[in-house]
This record gives sequence, C-alpha cells and structure tokens, in this order.
Amino acid sequence: MALHDDEVARYQREGFLKVPQVLTPEEVAEGLEEATAMLRRQDTLQWPSEAGVVMDWVASPELESRILRRLVLHPVITAMAERLAGRPLRLFKSELLRKAQVGSAATPLHADEGALPINGAPVTLTAWVALVDVPEQRGCMTFWPGTCQLVLPEDAEALDTHPEVAFRPRVTVPLRAGDCTFHDARTLHAAHANTTEVTRISLATVYMDAEATFDPERFLYSGEGMTDPLSLHLKSLGAGQPLASEHFPKLR
Ligand code: NI
Repeated sequence: MALHDDEVARYQREGFLKVPQVLTPEEVAEGLEEATAMLRRQDTLQWPSEAGVVMDWVASPELESRILRRLVLHPVITAMAERLAGRPLRLFKSELLRKAQVGSAATPLHADEGALPINGAPVTLTAWVALVDVPEQRGCMTFWPGTCQLVLPEDAEALDTHPEVAFRPRVTVPLRAGDCTFHDARTLHAAHANTTEVTRISLATVYMDAEATFDPERFLYSGEGMTDPLSLHLKSLGAGQPLASEHFPKLR
C-alpha cells in the first residue's frame, strides 16, 4: 500500500491527508485490546479545559508494549510519513489518546508545533490512527487546509477570531477504525466533544526530521513537571542538541 503522487501533492498543499485502512482488521483488534488494557491499568496525563477534560493519554506506550511499538513504527505508516515529509524521519514521541464518552470537552483549535520542543524543524508531522470508529460526534478531527503555510498568532484565543482562520474553509474527517490521518505540526485542527457512549481511542505518533534538534524554550511550558521517560530524557538535553539518541529511532 503506497501513496499516489496526487495524494502527496494534496498533503503538501493542505497540510493533512486521510488514508483509509492503513491497519488490517487484525491489527486494529489486537491494538485496541492492548490499548484498552493499558488505559485501564496506567496513570494518564490530562489536557484540562474550562469545559472539562479534553482527553487523557498514556505517554510513550511503545516503551511498555510490543504490540503498540509495532503500530508506532508500522512499516506502512512510517513509509507514508517519510514520503509525505520528503526526507528521512525519526520517531519523536507517541501518545495513546483517550477522549472519554459523554462528558469530554471539545479539543480547542490549535497547531501542534507550539507544544513540540523541536527547533525550527523543517518537517514534523503526526500520524493519528483510529482504533475505534470515530464519527463526528465521537470527536473526529477538523482541519483548516493550507494553514501550515500561514504565519498565525500563537495565542489560542487570538487564533480563534483571526480573520485568516475564522473565514477559512475547514474539513471534518470522520475515521473508521484502522484509518489514519497525517497532519503537519503547523496545520490548525480541532475536534468536538465525544457525545457518544463509546470512548474514542487512538494512537498519535509524532515523527520529526532526522536532523532535528532540541528547543528547550518550547519544552518549558509543554514538559515542565512531567516525569514520563521522554520528558525526563529531554530535561537532560541542552539547547540545540540533536534529538538523535535511542529515544528517537530513525524510521529506517
Ligand atoms: Ni493536536
């Protein structure tokens, strides 16, 4: 399974791409069983908001689970990521995400770049793999095409009312279990609350330029106080140091 040239061109223009069924039904079933058990047994980190918890997650699940490591470094997904990026990549991090049934809050409009401590990286992208069906009412993502090309305010509230954003078309992308979206770290996106009786479970993996270096200024507000293995490792790095240790394997 490989991408067509027109899909790569569309990704480069719009900053996101949906790819149906990157996982087989067997991989989905095995991944979901493992993910469900892990979310039940492990402490999670939380994204709080005034309206409630947006989502919670297990950081770096691939360190604990061979099954999830296979999905994080899945040959089809990583080959597509490198094709879209047009260059060699490394794993930056993976998160096993949960958006709880009835009662979760909407995911605010944001771009991921501001929370990733990666220096002026020419390419950073996320593969977001659905492990359950994710229709709109379960909190699938909405993307603002082409926003990866714009220079936008970093402040989320300014972003919401910014004319370049408020009047721009957006695309809501429901996913079947086993479907995946790729999005550039600068592409704006958001999601509704989950109003269904089924928990939204997905695996979001961030891949970065193989030459990327550490930017501690961004880490200050995204990683301070975190004690997961990746955050502890990042705390040991100096500004501008290559993100090239065994925490960040090359994809091939
Ligand atoms: Ni995001």
